[in-house]
Amino acid sequence: MVTGSAGFIGRHVADALRDAGHDVAGLDIRDGADVRDPDALDELLPGVEVVVHQAAKVGLGVDVSDLPGYASVNVYGTAVLLAAMARHNVRRLVLASSMVIYGEGRYVCAEHGDVRPGPRAVEDLERGRFDPPCPRCGAPLDWAEVGEDTPPDPRNAYATTKLAQEHLAANWARETGGSAAALRYHNVYGPHMPLDTPYAGVAAIFRSELRAGRPPQVFEDGRQRRDFVHVRDVARANLAAVTADVPAGTLRAWNIASGSPHTVGEMAAALAAERGGPRPQVTGRYRLGDVRHIVASPARAAAELGFRAEIGFDAGMKEFARS
Ligand code: UD1
Repeated sequence: MVTGSAGFIGRHVADALRDAGHDVAGLDIRDGADVRDPDALDELLPGVEVVVHQAAKVGLGVDVSDLPGYASVNVYGTAVLLAAMARHNVRRLVLASSMVIYGEGRYVCAEHGDVRPGPRAVEDLERGRFDPPCPRCGAPLDWAEVGEDTPPDPRNAYATTKLAQEHLAANWARETGGSAAALRYHNVYGPHMPLDTPYAGVAAIFRSELRAGRPPQVFEDGRQRRDFVHVRDVARANLAAVTADVPAGTLRAWNIASGSPHTVGEMAAALAAERGGPRPQVTGRYRLGDVRHIVASPARAAAELGFRAEIGFDAGMKEFARS
């Protein structure tokens, strides 16, 4: 069963599972089935072997008025789902988690080695000092790839609720002997990405601006780095996770990334070039909840899931710009 099966990622996951020969049941709020509704789950879960949980409230949110919504859908919804899975003896969960649970990525100081900068100061952001300095000596830092054992440090409501989902899934696994595969997605983009909503990721926002003939508004100096991973690759990762080797009673997490990070400015330029303009505007504006660079290491997913992204940045953005 795929939750969120009518959503951006859930649809692609359901398609990939079907293409691989699985029987797929879907649950989606757009079809009137809420993951927080135990009765709906009791109807759907008999006979289900694996739940692939993609239903969630996503994005950075607008302000604190969003907190109850994130907690309700993501935390409470997952709790209701896990309890129902226990009732129906479903022993495997694949969970859509996120890179945002790491907070600010990994940084290396020439003098102090690996360091973890705190949230960026408003004064620094106001002055255009976007790169976090070494928390010990203030020197500039180099970013480095984040591995799955990095301690979590969620910095917004969405990140907090995604981490809570992982913890609840680990509790469920321990209590029931089930196994949970948490896929920590990097920035997912591709066909069916939601349009024109403040909750959408930056790739969708830029595409909407270009479609309307407006220049993409690139925040900070555009040099913040992410890994844009295509939704069909993410669907393949879910397919691998359904049968991955996860010991009973445990949760195992994997970063799901393309392995070739780009800056937000490069992404804006690639989409604008493909659509023939207008050229992106680098605004210097910032959002307090944003982290500067976050780049996941794809190594564990390659070694253990056999997952490697197949759709490269250039081809993926070309298709996305036109979709
Ligand atoms: C995104 C997703 C999050 C997912 C995570 C995985 C959203 C909103 N966020 O987080 O759900 O779990 O990837 O790593 O879908 N930016 C601009 N101009 C804009 C909007 C954003 O320059 O108009 C910049 C932001 O300042 C930020 C970067 O683009 O530096 C990425 O923003 P965004 O896609 O919103 O969120 P992430 O934090 O990367």
